[in-house]
Amino acid sequence: MRMPLSDDEFDALRRLLGSSAGLVFDDSRREALAFCVSERVRVTGCENVAAYLRLLAQPDAEPERQSLLDEVTIPETHFFRNPPQITALRGHVLPQLLRDAGERDRKLTIWSAGCSTGEEPYTIAMLLRELLPLMHGWDIRIIATDISGRGLAAARAARYGERSLVMTDPADVNKFFIRDLEGEPAYVVRPEVAELVEFRRHNLVTEPPPFAPGEVDLVLCRNVTIYFDRATTRALVGRLHDTLRDGGYLFLGHAETLWQVSDDFHLVTLGDAFVYRRDDAADASGRERRMVLPDRRAPGKSERWGVERRQGRERRNLPTPSRPSGLVATIGRVLTTPIGPSARPTPPPGAPTVPPTAPPAVTTTQPEPAPISQVRRALAAGQYAEAAELAEQMAQAEPLAADAHYLRGVALTNLGRDADALIELRKAIYLDPGLGFAHFLLAGALNRLGEAVAAARSYRAAAEMLERIPADVAPEELGGRSAAELARMCKELADRAERHGG
Ligand SMILES: C[S@@+](CC[C@H](N)C(=O)[O-])C[C@H]1O[C@@H](n2cnc3c(N)ncnc32)[C@H](O)[C@@H]1O
Repeated sequence: MRMPLSDDEFDALRRLLGSSAGLVFDDSRREALAFCVSERVRVTGCENVAAYLRLLAQPDAEPERQSLLDEVTIPETHFFRNPPQITALRGHVLPQLLRDAGERDRKLTIWSAGCSTGEEPYTIAMLLRELLPLMHGWDIRIIATDISGRGLAAARAARYGERSLVMTDPADVNKFFIRDLEGEPAYVVRPEVAELVEFRRHNLVTEPPPFAPGEVDLVLCRNVTIYFDRATTRALVGRLHDTLRDGGYLFLGHAETLWQVSDDFHLVTLGDAFVYRRDDAADASGRERRMVLPDRRAPGKSERWGVERRQGRERRNLPTPSRPSGLVATIGRVLTTPIGPSARPTPPPGAPTVPPTAPPAVTTTQPEPAPISQVRRALAAGQYAEAAELAEQMAQAEPLAADAHYLRGVALTNLGRDADALIELRKAIYLDPGLGFAHFLLAGALNRLGEAVAAARSYRAAAEMLERIPADVAPEELGGRSAAELARMCKELADRAERHGG
């Protein structure tokens, strides 16, 4: 049952959820909100949405306000989510933090902020058990917090179905879970792992962090801020920075970046993962300059901005494949590419790999900008590595040029570097929200990275853009299809992604 929301009801609910949890519901999520509210109307026995809103406004309605939050928050998560980050945690970040703590006081504090049903903090506990089987003499705390009472109850139960383990290696399943075949079959987290995690209810938007300043070594706040607006995210990231000790790490989700949000952290590339680090010494000496961009509503084309720190991998000259080897040879072909892991291309032969501990490189000079036509030519010829390099030069010279980020996103998608492409495509969309095709590419990349809910949102945004294209206009990017046809396809893909996620 879904009761439609009047404009006033939608506004009242949006205000309530925005102020109580920072959650943003734009028009594309109106239907989803109507669904959740209808469920609460049914459970509470209210006559209609207006009566339910009156109930929520009662001073003693805190339990119902919590139930509504439980209903509207998106719990999508799984064990070992975001493989590049897991590799970075396993091979670099956790060993380094343990080494540092060993030299200090053998105390390690990790915060899983927005832990949902617990898969993320338990994953960290598993990695720590692997690295440090004997924890005698250590004080290791993984504090996992969430606003959702329902999520926390499931987390404390530590019983999971197959779906939570889709990204878990069978060897890790054997090592860290007990198979319970009584009743509803489940995988139960082993006690020696579960005992490392403490769950608490905490609101990241309205409450201060449950830690003293500088107390935390690692914060994971992944796939939480995608539901917040920029101001809320900015304030939260400031608080996360304060809780971290010097040298501590912040992990965000695939689709999240601090670009245009915070200048407090240092971006570090570890293999295929981007992570952030608090680095007071570098800040104090001014060793690394950060890119600070003005608001996109006041771009100055000819202005030059500061130098963005670049990742080691990006500075190398990637070899140009002799023939098109990427996902698509033209932008239009992306549209016909099947979505899913099987669509991932293999990297071009000989493509350089980055050692997992490669430090972030710093550049201090700006190359000459590459003309946009050169980038397009390289893309059309299937020379994606070259196109990515040229587009990067453009983006360095003109950080506010949406096209440069967009074309780099296209090139990286074709190289199968979805995690890197996400960052560029999000920049492009931020600078020019009307870039419908960027939404489409972003959706595909998110889907392949297992971020089904975020992918659905991007497919819907792409559909909305496509619907605005007049029937007699056929942009080259659409590969000969009509905009209306593609909009329909995007909606179908959004529905499909939503069914598989959330
Ligand atoms: C998509 S899940 C992310 C789970 C996990 N971090 C991961 O990446 O797999 C987002 C979580 O953020 C939580 N959340 C949303 N708003 C919050 C807030 N204001 N305070 C605390 N948690 C919040 C939701 O309840 C939900 O469990």
